[in-house]
Amino acid sequence: MLNRATIDSVSAKNPESLTVLDREYPTDSWMNIPPSILAKTVCRLHLQPGHPLNLLKARIEDHFEKFSKDIGSKGFRVKDSLNPIVTVEQNFDDLFISKDHPGRRPTDTYYVNEGHVLRTHTSAHQREALRTRDAPGYLVTADVYRKDEIDTSHYPVFHQMEGIYTFDRANLETEAALPASLSTPANVEVTGAKVCSETNPGQDVHTLRETELVGAHLRTSLECMVRNIFDDPNLRIRWNDDYFPFTAPSWEMEVWYQDRWMELCGCGVMKQEILDKTGNESRIGWAFGFGLERIAMVLYGIPDIRLFWSMDERFHSQFKNASKSSVVKFQPYSKYPSCYKDISFWCPESYHENEFSEVVREVAGDRVETVALIDKFTHPKTKRTSRCYRIQYRAMDRTLTNEEVDSIQESVRQMVSDKCGVELRG
Ligand code: DAH
Repeated sequence: MLNRATIDSVSAKNPESLTVLDREYPTDSWMNIPPSILAKTVCRLHLQPGHPLNLLKARIEDHFEKFSKDIGSKGFRVKDSLNPIVTVEQNFDDLFISKDHPGRRPTDTYYVNEGHVLRTHTSAHQREALRTRDAPGYLVTADVYRKDEIDTSHYPVFHQMEGIYTFDRANLETEAALPASLSTPANVEVTGAKVCSETNPGQDVHTLRETELVGAHLRTSLECMVRNIFDDPNLRIRWNDDYFPFTAPSWEMEVWYQDRWMELCGCGVMKQEILDKTGNESRIGWAFGFGLERIAMVLYGIPDIRLFWSMDERFHSQFKNASKSSVVKFQPYSKYPSCYKDISFWCPESYHENEFSEVVREVAGDRVETVALIDKFTHPKTKRTSRCYRIQYRAMDRTLTNEEVDSIQESVRQMVSDKCGVELRG
């Protein structure tokens, strides 16, 4: 279990550098990681025994272990303790993410310095895994960091799992052939995009047959995984074409769950250059990536993403002794009352909503539940824009007092006007 001492032990003691998991990094003017986010780097919830994210991770890893036996493969190597600080090359360039991609902006990504970021996705570790290739498959699970809006399903730190699988290209027909017993049974409905289509083309360096074989292997692997996880005899799966700069073709997988389509994971045939540059010229492969919280929330019935970070025994006791194979349904212990406060201000041109959200989080921590834009107005003469946000406050473990909320709101007002260059109204 987490405790305050471990969390408080992380801090930027020397403002010129910061130490994360025993490695020291110099900081520069790009550094934009607030202390509350830095503190999260030690938590690694996916490694905490009895934590729902750890349960889900173990369940998926178990599935792949069994699956690889079924397909006669040497299996998937698990990597789950990689340092969250990666280079800009690892996170973006190596994956062909364009230089002007909005995800690179300091309003979206946490920078340690000009060349290092807190990883925004587990794909940042693809090359590293492939460079030391000692198994055909990899499952990389890690905490990832993105500046984001505030609501019950978004949190600036979440967890992803990346799957990678490669084949000997010369032996692809044999290696990608799957036993008939694994083909999707008739009661599981699979619809959507074809493996090969003109609008979602493969790579020039691959033959159509290769793309088909790798694509089909990827899809069957993921279909087996969700059948196992959701354990629903009448599961419905839908494939959509998608685009990722590091795969071609690329797809998104959705499952029908509790009366709606739920986006589950992005995937595709890996860009050959990634394999070629990591000493795997003779191989071809696929990759996928998905968020663990999204699945854990629907599977275990966890209504708010902040609960994963809660230290409340009433949350943890429900998962502590759960076995990996059974699905625990979370019993909400009570929802404490919420209260809201509005804030409105004139915005400078450089205004970015993620920066505002970050200030609110920094001040209110997990006592903020949602931040919603409720009004936006541009003055007809001055052309200045004013925004009004409603901040919903609620703690997961107690009732907030009026005084406490008033004082948080006052600090939010001050910090927002200091840090976001806005002019408060009213
Ligand atoms: N890294 C992507 C994201 O965070 C997810 C992803 C998509 C991973 C496609 C993959 C992939 O490996 O092939 O949105």
